[in-house]
Amino acid sequence: MCDSCSTVYEDEETLMKEEEVENYIKAGKILQKIIKYAKEFIRPEQTLLEIATKIEEKIAKEKASPAFPVNLSLNNEAAHRTPAKDDAKKFTKKDIMKVDIGVHIDGYIADAAFSISYNKEHNELIKASKEALRNTEKILKEGITLGEIGKTIEETIRAFGFKPIANLSGHGLAQYEAHAEPTIPNTSNKSTLEIKDIAFAIEPFASTGNGYVRDSHEVQIYSIDEIKPVRSKHARNLLNFIMERFKTLPFAERWLYCEELKLNEFQTKLALRELIMHGCLKEYPILKDIEGSLVSQAEASFLAFNGEIIRIV
Ligand code: CO
Repeated sequence: MCDSCSTVYEDEETLMKEEEVENYIKAGKILQKIIKYAKEFIRPEQTLLEIATKIEEKIAKEKASPAFPVNLSLNNEAAHRTPAKDDAKKFTKKDIMKVDIGVHIDGYIADAAFSISYNKEHNELIKASKEALRNTEKILKEGITLGEIGKTIEETIRAFGFKPIANLSGHGLAQYEAHAEPTIPNTSNKSTLEIKDIAFAIEPFASTGNGYVRDSHEVQIYSIDEIKPVRSKHARNLLNFIMERFKTLPFAERWLYCEELKLNEFQTKLALRELIMHGCLKEYPILKDIEGSLVSQAEASFLAFNGEIIRIV
């Protein structure tokens, strides 16, 4: 999943522990399997709900947990679409879909994405973000700067005649933090900040539109923002459930309609609304480039440690 805000990265002298490294690598191996599985089964005319559910069930089968809901964003949507409960929307032959998946082991996250289409007209657009990721991977070494990464991504995508999405970026990964510092820009920039001793994701987006995304009104993904006292019993139950199950990681509204949460559908909806109204939750609206445009995405996760950078998925 992508980072849509820019934060200043402060260099802290915290080195990764061996156990952390092992968990990242394990999460990465599982995600490799999941991605292979997803690429094999996804076909036009499947519903987004069917696709997301199958992927999330496979994550559970591999004894990992989703680090965020599977994002299945269509056409001019760059990120943050995940199906609603009983969602009938389908992936069709005309569409280009971004499949963004995160898994975690004990909070240590691997994050990766690919674009898929059964319309050959989208091949070049898909290739643009893939090549941008590949070219960045080629130059990755400890001490590489955010400036060098952004320049490579932008130049590669522009050479295809598309625009990189300027307000979406790669990001650091930390325990139970899908978007940790630093923000890794997808465009040319002068940052001399170096990549060192962190887990991180590189995720170029190529667009035929403005190269800039805006929030839509549709929201299906949330995460805990601030724990505040809430008045109703149901809202308190829901907040406790979210804290226990997802901690600070993003979750899908459809995940809340489950037996463990002893509320019916109507009660859950109201409780969720109350938590939003009280400012307990951060919302992740679907992010879109302009109407009629198309967006592709490629993403992989890496570990920089011991003077090396390795790709984990
Ligand atoms: Co990401």
